[in-house]
Amino acid sequence: MCMQSQVLFSASDISGRVRALGAEISEWARGLPEPPVMLWLAEGAVVFAADLMREIGCDMQVVSLKVSSYGASLKSSGTLRYSRDFCEFAGKNILLVDDISDTGLTLREITGKLKDSGALQVKTCTLLCKPGKCAGARRPDFVGFDAPDSFVFGYGLDFSGRFRNLPDIRILTKE
Ligand code: PRP
Repeated sequence: MCMQSQVLFSASDISGRVRALGAEISEWARGLPEPPVMLWLAEGAVVFAADLMREIGCDMQVVSLKVSSYGASLKSSGTLRYSRDFCEFAGKNILLVDDISDTGLTLREITGKLKDSGALQVKTCTLLCKPGKCAGARRPDFVGFDAPDSFVFGYGLDFSGRFRNLPDIRILTKE
């Protein structure tokens, strides 16, 4: 196999955008009566969330949520299961953080469950958004970069379970 890729967003591009997102989110959080909860989605958001939380200049609770699908079906099948009970977020303001909004289904589903469970505001934040693909889906409230509808990996996003630890985001040019 001769896999080829090129850098789409460098570590330096990313750190600049994460800093700016942190400032925007801090402004939102400072207007709240109580510290919000940053709910980040494992595994893909691990690197983004770790960097983003340190750019947010106010107190927050930080918790992770593991999302997986039943059986061998894809997440887009709509049959998802979660590592936490959404009831714990009743009465809280939530910042839902993920690495990428691809079709937008994951964020839409989790936002709906949080609201059904009594969460107050639910703001969504992704480092990447594929606007061409998620037509009809709600754009996240805070977006780092728009991305092309191509396979991307690095900075938390995997390629067959690997390469999450790359400091840049790369785009696959040849598999
Ligand atoms: C990826 C990504 C998002 C989701 C986005 O997760 O981390 O959670 O897909 O897709 P959507 O907008 O089409 O719903 P993945 O299933 O690859 O798991 P991972 O986070 O463990 O990498």
